[in-house]
Amino acid sequence: MHLGRTTLSKFLIQQVREHHAEEGAGLAALLVDIAAAVKAISAMTAKGALAGILGSLESQNVQGETQKKLDVLSDRAFINTFQLGGLVAGLASEENDDPIAVEPRPAGADFLTLFDPLDGSSNIDVNVSVGSIFSVVRAPKGKPSLQDYLVPGDQQLAAGYAIYGPSTMLVLTVGQGTHGFTLDREVGNFILTHPNIQIPAATSEFAINTSNERFWEPPVQRYVEECKAGKTGVRGRDFNMRWIASMVADVHRILMRGGVFMYPKDTKDPSKPGRLRLMYEANPMSMVIEQAGGAASTGRGRILEVKPEQIHQRIPVIVGSREEVERVAKYHDEYDKGEDKAYSSPLFKERSLFQS
Ligand code: F6P
Repeated sequence: MHLGRTTLSKFLIQQVREHHAEEGAGLAALLVDIAAAVKAISAMTAKGALAGILGSLESQNVQGETQKKLDVLSDRAFINTFQLGGLVAGLASEENDDPIAVEPRPAGADFLTLFDPLDGSSNIDVNVSVGSIFSVVRAPKGKPSLQDYLVPGDQQLAAGYAIYGPSTMLVLTVGQGTHGFTLDREVGNFILTHPNIQIPAATSEFAINTSNERFWEPPVQRYVEECKAGKTGVRGRDFNMRWIASMVADVHRILMRGGVFMYPKDTKDPSKPGRLRLMYEANPMSMVIEQAGGAASTGRGRILEVKPEQIHQRIPVIVGSREEVERVAKYHDEYDKGEDKAYSSPLFKERSLFQS
């Protein structure tokens, strides 16, 4: 029983009535539909090996990544929900090359959704937290064109993620703060447990895949070197590093206790300007983070102001506690202007005196 507690539905009815007069009940209903898909995926992931749905398929997605069985099942859960729900005119997913129009377009289908059905899926088979990420934008009249999806992140109506961990949580924003709900599995309700999440402005925790260090740009190398130097360096305090390799889990930790998460531009594969995808990873997570008082940057600009060019576009991502994100952005600026301090160590760095 949840007497006196706020369910997701009640919360959404109140929030959209206050702040989304235009989209009204439709937006609240769509987010309840998303919660239903999340519950289905939560049940599947929780069964693990018992359901026989772990492991990989032979297929690859448009990114050239081998699909996991659960990637495809989660994608199906979202697509079925949207196609049957009557609120969505079209959808775009990490797992599908092109957006899918819902036809015929239902009368109340005022939205487009973009989503990553199962993020961090390399962690599925090792029983580490994974998640789903979603973004909701307005659907113009008529059959949606590709351009209708390609709106900058600051035009999202709602965004959020689900994390399938020891508990399943749904964290979302409709542009009025970021709020977290925990799934009461037995009852099947999402209950508001983390209202108005606030990311601390300062932090001493960073998250980055350091195996890519030699491919990073100098400003990122400078920032991480300084964190690692801790008390003995310019930061004057020790830092801690965490890296889960599920963006959802890393971002969730930052929302809960601060920190900075980086998947910056690197030269590992020069054809890719970043690792993470703008439309269904960086944009929704940036909205969630900004609404919680944090910051989200490419290193050279605010992520939410990037003008998208492609559905599966990649982008550098630096998100989390405001002071740290601003510091990394400042290092990029200084580097671009040639004003940053040269490296004194180690020898292999790009600006080393020993390099030809
Ligand atoms: O979809 C991208 C993702 O799974 C993120 O959740 C995660 O941060 C990243 O890939 C990890 O990638 P890698 O193991 O290549 O560093």
